[in-house]
Amino acid sequence: ADLSKGLKDYFKNDFFVGVAVGSRSIRTDSALIIREFNSVTAENDMKVGVIHPTENTYNWKNADDIVAFAERHKINIRGHNLLWHQQNAEWMLVGPDGKQASKELVLKRLKEHIFTVMNRYKGKIYCWDVVNEAIDDSQDPAVMYRKTKWLEIFNGPEFIDAAFRFAHEADPKAKLYYNEFNSEREVKREKIFKLIKRLKADGVPIDGVGFQAHWSLDYPTVTQLRTALDQIVSLGLEVQITELDVTIHPRPLGAPAPTTPPVDAGFTPDLEARQVAKYKEIFDILRAYKKNIKAVTFWNVSDRGSWLDSRGGGSAGDAKPATPMILKAYPLLFDVNGQRKKAYWAVVNN
Ligand code: XIL
Repeated sequence: ADLSKGLKDYFKNDFFVGVAVGSRSIRTDSALIIREFNSVTAENDMKVGVIHPTENTYNWKNADDIVAFAERHKINIRGHNLLWHQQNAEWMLVGPDGKQASKELVLKRLKEHIFTVMNRYKGKIYCWDVVNEAIDDSQDPAVMYRKTKWLEIFNGPEFIDAAFRFAHEADPKAKLYYNEFNSEREVKREKIFKLIKRLKADGVPIDGVGFQAHWSLDYPTVTQLRTALDQIVSLGLEVQITELDVTIHPRPLGAPAPTTPPVDAGFTPDLEARQVAKYKEIFDILRAYKKNIKAVTFWNVSDRGSWLDSRGGGSAGDAKPATPMILKAYPLLFDVNGQRKKAYWAVVNN
């Protein structure tokens, strides 16, 4: 094989191939990133609580460095994110009296935030995750929205609509996404579908849906993935796979967090074979949807530094152990030394 080629070349007629980066990985892994990827997402550095930690402070340095790196190497940039209940700017939700802020005040601050961040990177960031994870993750169809302070203050989901409208005003050219995990599970899938249909019907400017894709060896099934993609495509929206990883340690849905460190057998040949097969299955499907899928982004560069390693084997949505337990997830296409894994060759060779 031609080792100067990267994922971006193998998939050039299909979609962008991206990776989550930080101000450190753009230095330590720069050669690999430049060779393999043509899109980047800031893993943390553009999140509201990180970039705008108090009302009068913006931390631009790391985000600026990532944007400059990407521009220098002609890499596309997707923005992540403008509204999330985690890594949130808590000050935004506190009023002058120290109690919960009014809806009017929160709207004013949200607008100011969205305008400031989007304006700074206008023309450089081609799409934004405007709202992240606003749907309830439970298997209860009756609970539609995640119970957060945002939902409480607005007494409903109006903050979602507002964020998209502000984002569209701030940069009418940017593609605007709703981003979510566990989107392929039946109950949650229907809730997401209902939200997106409602946004469209109300004329809210939304262009696409991001599937985080924190997946595992047995999730999603082919049918689950296809059904979820079909629904979004049926609404005339674009899709991106925004945070792909495939952990070798699936935890059953709803299982409690481990209290003792799980036994780690490592990346055994059997687990490796199953991961290769899963990755191949996934990319066969993604290729089949290339008309609708604009980018596929991996969440971290290599198995050396996956965000999953400290979650006791859990993925997004799983209960987190009280004390972090290292259980290596080996979820990516590059190994702990940054070398291409068998799964890499399985996804590019067809
Ligand atoms: C994660 C980062 O990878 C971690 O470094 C951080 O501690 C927590 O957030 N869904 C998302 C991402 O949308 O922003 C999350 O990223 C992973 C789950």
